[in-house]
Amino acid sequence: MAQIETHINMPDAGSAFPMKALQNGQLNSFMKANKRRFFSYKIKPFLGKPLNVHFAVSNSDVVNFYKDEENLSLSNYDLSLRTGGAKSQFFISADIEFLGRQWALLNRALDLEPAINRYQGDTPSFPFLAPDDPIALCAQAAVNQAVQNILARENAKSSIFSLLKFWRKERRKGEIDVIKDYGNVVTYLIVRDFIGLSVSGQNLFKQSSKLRLMMGPMFFNLFINPGARRPIISFLSNFISKIYKRRILKCYGEAPAETLLGRLRTLEPNSDPVQLDQHRKYVANIVMELAGSFHFLTGSGFAGIVQAIDEKETYPENQPGISNADLVQLVENVAHDPREKLDEYLRHYSPTEFIFRAVQKDFELKSDTPWTDGTTKFSQGDMMCLLTGLASKDGDTFENPDSVMPVENAKCLRHKYLHFGSPDVEPAKRRSKFPSENTPHHPCFGQYWARTILLEMLTGLLRLDNLHTVKRGQFKMNPFSGGIYKMQFNSD
Ligand code: HEM
Repeated sequence: MAQIETHINMPDAGSAFPMKALQNGQLNSFMKANKRRFFSYKIKPFLGKPLNVHFAVSNSDVVNFYKDEENLSLSNYDLSLRTGGAKSQFFISADIEFLGRQWALLNRALDLEPAINRYQGDTPSFPFLAPDDPIALCAQAAVNQAVQNILARENAKSSIFSLLKFWRKERRKGEIDVIKDYGNVVTYLIVRDFIGLSVSGQNLFKQSSKLRLMMGPMFFNLFINPGARRPIISFLSNFISKIYKRRILKCYGEAPAETLLGRLRTLEPNSDPVQLDQHRKYVANIVMELAGSFHFLTGSGFAGIVQAIDEKETYPENQPGISNADLVQLVENVAHDPREKLDEYLRHYSPTEFIFRAVQKDFELKSDTPWTDGTTKFSQGDMMCLLTGLASKDGDTFENPDSVMPVENAKCLRHKYLHFGSPDVEPAKRRSKFPSENTPHHPCFGQYWARTILLEMLTGLLRLDNLHTVKRGQFKMNPFSGGIYKMQFNSD
């Protein structure tokens, strides 16, 4: 490969996916410095076949690739999970026949009375759901319970208990980690009460962490192990996913009738054992993905929103933290324009920073670089990595990409937001068609649910008296919980 003359160095091959270069911004700087439209990287594993990964970073390319079903496919999901075809173990299966049957089953379960919608009316803006929609009710109940749980824990703190707090890593009275103690608990409660999937554990915090640990490896494997080129990660992920799946099937037998698992049980074919076995397989695949998205993605999405509020909003000068009055105002602003505000926060910090696609057919595109003959070649079997996080801050699309955009601008740029997959600009038109093999998009199925839950979670924070922070810039990354962010409140 031609030698590139630049002060920013970026190797073009390695034994694993270049996660570090992505996280520390090296890849982005390199592409910018060299005016690269694409960057091709060869993964050369110690064992097994090499894999070419092509990175795309411009907003328009990512939007187009999201819709491109001619050159690209979703079989990367099955490749990463070492499944696919008749053995498909995942809802986003590459096998169209399985996928169709799974979607049909899910839609039938959601349509049972009382029906569960994904959005209401013709407008994709707001309200996302009717106030008495099961998801909206479930989100409210989960927020109530999480808040009550925090208050009860605070009240239970005796002085002897607080003496032990350092040793037991307990938090000070009136201090909470809004991500772990609240956000992840709310999303766990939604999985428990909406889906019917629960895990055992001493208390809600432990149960929610346990469920996160069960589903986390599956998501990490999908994102950091394209083409399953690191067998140890695949092995661990598959091993832990089996525990997760077993738990789902155990709960399937016991879940209350109104939960998603209960609804799926109602639709069980009652005669043929082969059909019954197939049905249970579909149930496990559907719930693995949906429960994971509710708990892991929505929980991490909440962490991203908290981080954006801390780092991207403007506050009075010389004020060390976020005052309660600021917080109340911010939440009011979100409640006024929920779609735009939530999406804008998620544009800055999304749980999905990049998305893969498999190249299913050879093609080439202009690469804007003088040293590759002006074209980048994509070959069947290569992987495309859409850098959605960076493309969401593309200066050619977003003016002042690192600041919070005014609501009006965000409204006009809906078709450029990437964190929920291919932008879903006219959901009301798509409900009847989706999903079908002719649908040229793959938007997030649960995005209206996720926004409803995220809004409820933000509003619920105000139930903690005088919630505020003592200083800014204290969000810490944590892959296990989605982040750490401590806030103070009056606990008496
Ligand atoms: C903040 C939270 C969430 C984020 C950031 C998110 C993100 C995404 C993204 C990026 C995709 C597209 C993947 C691709 O094109 O390869 C997607 C698809 C999907 N999401 Fe979400 N999601 C969230 C919450 C949810 C929730 C709560 C559900 C619950 C049902 C859900 C269910 C799905 C499903 C089923 C798909 C696949 C759709 C299909 O196969 O056509 N997501 N999501």
